[in-house]
Amino acid sequence: MQLGVSENHIELTLADAAATKSFGRTLAQVLQPGTIIALRGGLGAGKTTLVQGIGEGLGVREVINSPTFTTLNEYETGKLPIFHIDLYRLNEDEANPKDVLGPGIAVVLAELDQLQDQGGILIIEWSEYLGDNLPADHILIKLDYAKSKENLSSNFEQDFSGREASVHAYGANSSNLLEQLKRILISC
Ligand SMILES: Nc1ncnc2c1ncn2[C@@H]1O[C@H](COP(=O)(O)OP(=O)(O)OP(=O)(O)O)[C@@H](O)[C@H]1O
Ligand SMILES: [Mg+2]
Repeated sequence: MQLGVSENHIELTLADAAATKSFGRTLAQVLQPGTIIALRGGLGAGKTTLVQGIGEGLGVREVINSPTFTTLNEYETGKLPIFHIDLYRLNEDEANPKDVLGPGIAVVLAELDQLQDQGGILIIEWSEYLGDNLPADHILIKLDYAKSKENLSSNFEQDFSGREASVHAYGANSSNLLEQLKRILISC
């Protein structure tokens, strides 16, 4: 795993799905009740795999899947509850992604508030659909298909099949968690 660290920011390379899960397990060690993790990344970027790793780290016994037909899955068998939200299905107007949630945004935000009060970890796939409306204190994780460094100039961008993760912390609580995460990752 390649690791880059700076103020309120971590970048890491995840070579395969096992590495994504392992990162999730490490992340789980620093999470607190009410932590919000906003995930971004295109189709198949590894968002749900990361949630599975977080679930493993928290000792969740249920199978964690993409909440394809629901927007919220709850997992209560681990050390802390996980509320796994997937906003993809709410994107009814793909041509106008900015208008995705429309009036529904208020419902989602009220639900987030309520879930946060229940002391769970909130993990949101396709969090970009919330625009600037995410609660201020959150961890943002962007996942992307890794580009082959050697072949950037030739068009073989996808011959390294891993992923790149970029982690940003916003707000005091999340920044504190990120500092702890840095310490664990650096010592690995
Ligand atoms: N670091 C990685 N390197 C290579 N493959 C990975 C990595 N992490 C996850 N994958 C694989 O990518 C595929 C898609 O993963 P996943 O379902 O987690 O993506 P997703 O972002 O949740 O997708 P969706 O947009 O459909 O919700 C899976 O086959 C998974 O095993
Ligand atoms: Mg998914």
